[in-house]
Amino acid sequence: MADKDEIKESKDYKIDVPFKKNNFHVKGMDHVDWGMKDRLSKIFNKKSGKTVMLAFDHGYIMGSTSGLERLDIVVPPLAEKVDVLMATRGAIRSCVPPVYNKAIALRCTAGSSVLKDDMSNEVIGVDIEDAIRINASCLAVQTFIGSSGETSSINNLVRVVDSGNRYGIPTLGVVAVGKEMERTTKFFLLATRMIAELGAQIIKTYYCDDFEKVVAACPVPIVIAGGKKISEQDTLELVYRAISEGAAGVDMGRNIFQAGNPLAMTEAIVMIVHKKKTAKEAYQFYQSKQ
Ligand code: 5RP
Repeated sequence: MADKDEIKESKDYKIDVPFKKNNFHVKGMDHVDWGMKDRLSKIFNKKSGKTVMLAFDHGYIMGSTSGLERLDIVVPPLAEKVDVLMATRGAIRSCVPPVYNKAIALRCTAGSSVLKDDMSNEVIGVDIEDAIRINASCLAVQTFIGSSGETSSINNLVRVVDSGNRYGIPTLGVVAVGKEMERTTKFFLLATRMIAELGAQIIKTYYCDDFEKVVAACPVPIVIAGGKKISEQDTLELVYRAISEGAAGVDMGRNIFQAGNPLAMTEAIVMIVHKKKTAKEAYQFYQSKQ
């Protein structure tokens, strides 16, 4: 029987041995169906194998958020530059013209606001038919491993994975860090691997110490979350470290739309993720746009 102590004993990550891909550029997705591969190819650039997702789904728990007061003004110029738009169906339908032909990571869970102490109890907030109608490329589900809402969030995840699999739509499993959890390597190793084994085809999580181990132990691509606003230079260094250590991309919100120049910040991140630029080069570019 597996138990808690098992976690700290896992150490043989073989970080220098790349994950084998046979005929498809997305990790662990060699054997999925054509339709799912087509959607994954819209998310992950075939040449770089990576993705830049712009997250602006904050309103689903926070209402109007600093930098996102006017989605209709803020999002369109950034939408041109990224691969994926991560948002709620309400934001997409009302504020994003259907002309960019970008992948949509549709926020599919709901259930709490920031007014609540414990936000870990969510429900599935979108029918699969509506996700298809909006042409979602993946279905984003928040999971609260270790929190009071752990079981219900896992129930949401597996239900959405089943619906997505039925129609060839991948699920993006989002690792939420409940207020009682710490951002340790051990936690992220546990949460990312669990969510992948429960069927999510893409994982969104935070960067952490020994991130390479988290990537190595996770059989599907990991994109990193941004989190609270930090300096532009620190953001670009974070992106660079994560990409260098195996992240398949970023899914960022506040550190883009709350940056001094959101458009230049988006372009600087794209330079690191898709064009192999260093954090220093990307920051020089960012500064040149001020
Ligand atoms: C939290 C999320 C959020 O919805 C959002 O996408 C976070 O973006 P950021 O932290 O970069 O502002 O996925 O887990």
